[in-house]
Amino acid sequence: MAEENNHGINLDADREVCVEVRNVWKIFGHRPERVLENPELRNAGKDDILEQTGLVVGLRDVSFDVHRGEFFVLMGLSGSGKSTLIRCIIRLAEPSAGQVIINGEDIVSYDDVKLGELRRNTMGMVFQHFGLLPHRSVLDNVAYGLKVRGVAIDERYERARYYIDKVGLKGWEHHLPAALSGGMQQRVGIARALTGDPEILLLDEPFSGLDPLIRRQMQDELLELQAELQKTLLFVTHDLHEALKVGGRIAIMRDGEIIQVGSPEEVITSPSNAYVRQFVQDASPTKVLTARTVMEQPPVLIYSWQGPKASLQILRDANVDSAFVVTRQARLLGMITVEGLVRLIRKQGRNLKDALDPEFISCSADTVVEDLIPLVAATRYPVAVVDEEDRFLGEIYVSTIISSMIREEEQIEQVETQGAPAEEESPVTDQSASADTYQGEGESP
Ligand SMILES: Nc1ncnc2c1ncn2[C@@H]1O[C@H](COP(=O)(O)OP(=O)(O)O)[C@@H](O)[C@H]1O
Ligand SMILES: [Mg+2]
Repeated sequence: MAEENNHGINLDADREVCVEVRNVWKIFGHRPERVLENPELRNAGKDDILEQTGLVVGLRDVSFDVHRGEFFVLMGLSGSGKSTLIRCIIRLAEPSAGQVIINGEDIVSYDDVKLGELRRNTMGMVFQHFGLLPHRSVLDNVAYGLKVRGVAIDERYERARYYIDKVGLKGWEHHLPAALSGGMQQRVGIARALTGDPEILLLDEPFSGLDPLIRRQMQDELLELQAELQKTLLFVTHDLHEALKVGGRIAIMRDGEIIQVGSPEEVITSPSNAYVRQFVQDASPTKVLTARTVMEQPPVLIYSWQGPKASLQILRDANVDSAFVVTRQARLLGMITVEGLVRLIRKQGRNLKDALDPEFISCSADTVVEDLIPLVAATRYPVAVVDEEDRFLGEIYVSTIISSMIREEEQIEQVETQGAPAEEESPVTDQSASADTYQGEGESP
């Protein structure tokens, strides 16, 4: 969806697709075509299929695109098919039907040779349980993939050291994995995946086994690495807060299907159905809603070429005591107040720039409400919201934030009082059980 600001400027650059998943099915068990070729069974529920055929539906008709350089998150409860999907993308599991197109080529038709090249050159994988070689040093673990490829020892150690440094493990090169904490072991896992310089990094619940504090730190570090290295990331998690924090877009999975794909904000503010709504209910809106969602359009905007008297008239007509000043290209210059204008006019000043008020505060459209609150509290004037190019998008008052919080509450109440449609049963039976309860059960049976 192209995003436009209120001046009709398209803020979304065209993005290149890197991974396309097209109608992928994965059915575990003997002769999956019994389901795939049977129109009735294809549409039957997972339990019915299991009962009638003994086959387990791992993925059902999954389609989505990942853009180059994107941080894409697959989220869902344990058993929803996240690992199966990510394994199909690198063909550690064979799709029963459908296509996985990487850089324009359907890799489902690849033979072993091409598959080997793909895994060595294009993809890297990080697992929940690290998968390190216990009797090899950190350095050898990280360099292992290069060794298998026949890279000379000096070069592979040099590259391994480079990434060991990047993940903050300098000085640990000659220790065995057992000497390292969980977080450090996963840093080894990440360095190992990066050493092959893959375009695409697949991470299957990489932080799920770690303590919350370490986990948050690892999330921050991964975001930093991503900003620097610009890889395409497919990141699996069962944890909503983790998904909201790291994800550029999030795909929510349930029973082998993707039921919604969207930005963290879209998932929170317009869940596609009651299942997603229930999933996101406990996410704190102040941590998720951003200035872009809560901002409002001001009653008036002043253009930089307008004179002080005309501007004063505009403010008085609109019955406001301040307004933002923008250029023809909608760039924000600052704020003027009635007081400031009156002073300028008395001094016979002509240039609005001489009346710009120092109390002016602006914030980026991505600022979360939690961080907005101190800003709006610091001024009696509205806070301006701008994009990366400093173009004016909207304004925020304390009251704007409060009313957006109330809207949020009302939406939740509506869903609760209307109840979920019959086929959309609750994702968790015990409301007190957060997604975290599923930690540690994340692996395939
Ligand atoms: N090798 C397998 N054989 C049979 N069923 C499997 C196998 N691997 C996964 N499944 C089933 O596929 C579904 C999805 O599993 P999985 O992808 O591991 O989910 P997640 O990673 O979201 O926890 C589950 O119902 C699981 O039992
Ligand atoms: Mg899994």
